Amino acid sequence: MKILITGGLGFIGSNFIRYALAKYPVMKIVNLDKQTYASCLATLKDLASNPRYAYIKGDICDPKKVAQAMSDCTAVINFAAETHVDRSINDASAFLNTNIIGVQVLLDAARKLKIKRFIQIGTDEVYGSRLKGSFNENDRLLPGH
Ligand SMILES: NC(=O)c1ccc[n+]([C@@H]2O[C@H](COP(=O)([O-])OP(=O)(O)OC[C@H]3O[C@@H](n4cnc5c(N)ncnc54)[C@H](O)[C@@H]3O)[C@@H](O)[C@H]2O)c1
Repeated sequence: MKILITGGLGFIGSNFIRYALAKYPVMKIVNLDKQTYASCLATLKDLASNPRYAYIKGDICDPKKVAQAMSDCTAVINFAAETHVDRSINDASAFLNTNIIGVQVLLDAARKLKIKRFIQIGTDEVYGSRLKGSFNENDRLLPGH
């Protein structure tokens, strides 16, 4: 089983990659990350020689890179995002590109390649806060800001 993780040099994605490789000994992971200011290449440096891990530097808005990274994958988990929302006050373009166009590029590629499962990582800025249980896709949107 090979899965594509996007944004895997960020805070949550990098921890997920480490966790998944340890928990699922047959799993292979391709990590597509643009290496923005929010990434940390050194975080996964020790995985460089792991035959079940491959890193591709690239943008989720780039259909060619995405098709290359997604090829032979059975699932996609998108952690790639512009996350520090205060930065959008000065310039929102990166947010619109990555968080909207990038997701569309990933979804289009997943549909074309008949990817069985696509998991889009979100935040409580989308559905609001919840103290018990979990949200599902039919819940009401309740953006935090
Ligand atoms: N950190 C939290 O506490 C938290 C809580 C809830 C939800 N989330 C969500 O989890 C997801 C990941 O959050 P995080 O804290 O790990 O983010 P982060 O900012 O630490 O990492 C984001 C990663 O995405 C990469 N990236 C950005 N734009 C890209 C692009 N166009 N193409 C490829 N890679 C790109 C960056 O280089 C970086 O490595 C986000 O959707 C975020 O909203 C985070």
